[in-house]
Amino acid sequence: MTDIGRPMQNVLITGGAGFIGSNFVHFLLNRDPEVEIVNLDALTYAGSTENLKGLSDPSRHNFFHGDINDRTLVEQILRDHRIDTIVHFAAESHVDRSILGPEQFIQTNIVGTHTLLNAARHFWLQEQSIVPEQLAQRVRFHHISTDEVFGSLEPDDPPFSESTPYAPNSPYAASKAASDHLVRAYWHTYGLPITITNCSNNYGPYQFLEKLIPLMITNALQGLPLPIYGDGLQVRDWLYVGDHCEAIWTVLRNGKPGETYNVGGDNQPFNITVVETLCDILDELHPNSAYAPHKELVQSVKDRPGHDRRYAMDITKIHKELGWTPTHSLAEGLMKTVTWYLNNPEWIESIRSQEDYQNWMKKNYIKRGEET
Ligand code: NAD
Ligand code: TYD
Repeated sequence: MTDIGRPMQNVLITGGAGFIGSNFVHFLLNRDPEVEIVNLDALTYAGSTENLKGLSDPSRHNFFHGDINDRTLVEQILRDHRIDTIVHFAAESHVDRSILGPEQFIQTNIVGTHTLLNAARHFWLQEQSIVPEQLAQRVRFHHISTDEVFGSLEPDDPPFSESTPYAPNSPYAASKAASDHLVRAYWHTYGLPITITNCSNNYGPYQFLEKLIPLMITNALQGLPLPIYGDGLQVRDWLYVGDHCEAIWTVLRNGKPGETYNVGGDNQPFNITVVETLCDILDELHPNSAYAPHKELVQSVKDRPGHDRRYAMDITKIHKELGWTPTHSLAEGLMKTVTWYLNNPEWIESIRSQEDYQNWMKKNYIKRGEET
């Protein structure tokens, strides 16, 4: 398995204590028995070492509590661990938070990505003096991005492809778009071997409770309202996080430097349908719940400002060129996800007990509910 594609030995994962990053750490330790991981994470409100418990081989995982903006630390890690592959997840990732306070999104998503790019360029091209003919085979900077850089689709528009023009609408999407442009520019200007994946909405284990799916599951379990923004007829292209990890790995091994790949789930339901499906699963798994039928908890609240209506991904390129395809239907993925949250009450409690989380819930949901 590990001899397929570009060799990979020492991998720096940024944001590896967050939702997708931690899933990728678990995944990579299983998938690639030779790889050594360095995980650099600032442990913001969204990151937790709880997500890294039970790793299959902890001896191949080195955790650094630090900021991607700390150039000295980043350079030291690259040098000390002879990093050949960077998988860059670290970001501020929640649209609602970016609307309330965009500054941190600029600092982490744009400036932080640039700090990493610049350090990688310095280390690989200058310090290690890897010659241009060998760069693509020996090193790789892989940037994790989002479908939100493409803006919003009208009902009859075709899905986003890799050539869809960028039109980001939220401060989050704009900051990710800027980081994508910087990554691309480092390839064109300096020849730094990069790849980018633009992925749709993920769901699965370890997702922070502020995002739609875990918020609905955990609110329903407590009999709290399930807040649907506006009419609930917005569309997202949901992808199970394990499928995303497999896509990233495929691109790391076989993706072409300088290329971007769209990744999506081939699942495009209305938000309200996702929430009702979650309620049905909870009714089935929890028939004696005091809150069943859980659909009765659904409550329409004030819409998000500038809310994108519809996202959908055309995943033909990654399928045809690299053979990746999602393996979970939405029904399977949601069942797995609800089951994981039901089986992990301590993990849920570790998030709920955070002051930041309690303040966020009070500020965001009580206010929205009052304004309905
Ligand atoms: P997350 O918010 O769960 O995790 C982000 C992680 O980055 C946290 O562990 C946090 O501590 C860390 N971090 C934040 N700022 C940092 C800094 N300055 N230095 C080091 N670490 C820092 O995010 P996620 O949902 O796992 O998303 C990961 C990446 O995937 C992001 O780049 C996001 O834009 C992208 N993405 C997410 C989705 C999704 O549906 N969640 C979809 C497509 C793309
Ligand atoms: P979210 O999980 O925040 O991801 P994103 O904004 O990156 O797509 O939201 C997914 C969809 O669910 C989005 O259309 C907003 C909507 N939503 C609600 O209706 N209620 C909620 O409480 C949340 C968090 C999101």
